[in-house]
Amino acid sequence: MKKLLVALFAITTLLCGCTERQQLKSSLRDALKVAVAHEKAMAEYMLPIEGKLPKSYNGEKIVTAAPRDWTSGFFPGTMWLLYEHTGDEQLKEYADIFTRRLEELKDYTGTHDLGFMVFCSYGNAYRLTGEPYYNSVIEQASKSLVTRFNPTVGCIRSWNTKHKTPELDFMVIIDNMMNLEMLEWCGYHDIARKHADTTTKNHFREDNSTYHVVAYNELTGEVVEKRTRQGAADDSAWARGQSWGLYGYTMMYRMTGEQRYLEQAVKIADYLIPRLPEDAIPNWDFDSDRMLKDSSAGAIMASALIELYGFTKNEAYISTAEHQLRSLCSEEYLASLGENGYFVLKHGVGNLPGNRELDVPLPYGDYYFVEAAMRYLAL
Ligand code: GLY
Repeated sequence: MKKLLVALFAITTLLCGCTERQQLKSSLRDALKVAVAHEKAMAEYMLPIEGKLPKSYNGEKIVTAAPRDWTSGFFPGTMWLLYEHTGDEQLKEYADIFTRRLEELKDYTGTHDLGFMVFCSYGNAYRLTGEPYYNSVIEQASKSLVTRFNPTVGCIRSWNTKHKTPELDFMVIIDNMMNLEMLEWCGYHDIARKHADTTTKNHFREDNSTYHVVAYNELTGEVVEKRTRQGAADDSAWARGQSWGLYGYTMMYRMTGEQRYLEQAVKIADYLIPRLPEDAIPNWDFDSDRMLKDSSAGAIMASALIELYGFTKNEAYISTAEHQLRSLCSEEYLASLGENGYFVLKHGVGNLPGNRELDVPLPYGDYYFVEAAMRYLAL
């Protein structure tokens, strides 16, 4: 009798789990329909605004940016993902138009963000169409990006410095892990892996949280300073930075098969998961008393955790991602048409210490939410 009850309990739990997963998938399909409506409306709005891409919404109007802004690739990238999801030719046309607005980036050597900008746009375009034009831009952009690699430091320079002794301020930020996917894809394996290995060595604290910025002496490769620009304090855990690290190492494991990257991703996930709040969407900084959710950090983390679950089969990773996706699909975060300047998610934080983009939509939040939803639906 006891055995029968235990078996019945196990079957009921399994069925409830399946039902919850089916319900989440249905919510995600609906959310992606909403996302399609947002992106098409955004494309119509942006078409006459030549040379610009959407960056945020300030409650009154859509804020736009030039191609050289680090966020420029996310809007075309999101449309490519939604084209992949729906097969809708109109999305493909829009995605192509806004991708081509970024062509000048192929020769731009002034930023480390080319991976975000070019691989989310041109990378998805080439993956989905096989059109050689897109690939030629990716190849050229990768050549431009590797000009920022310094072999003494073992890293790609993130930001240029205005320091009075610039050789002591070779800045590398954790976000830079995200740019390695394009380099691995283009065959710059040594540079990408050296950057990742140097970052593992110098960016992480004992508890596996990451600093935002590490400044190196570019002549000796020594670490000069560990600090923050977008977090609450030099020794705090800025939420989006933790998400970039998680995503970056998980991606590096996918691209290389090297166990050490998987181990680093697992360490980051195991640091993050117990620190998430009730709705699993992090505060903008894990160590700040100022409460302001960053939905972009939640979306990036959910997408990374789904991929990490695929490599580890650790149930904690998928159940956390599910929790985050349920929250992001709720009215609290998912915008209805007309209320959020044609962006999909509400409540992102761009740069709180800089007093910029507080509690606003962000195109990278939308990109990684759509990616996470599609990854989950494909499980
Ligand atoms: N890469 C800049 C940011 O995450 O805000």
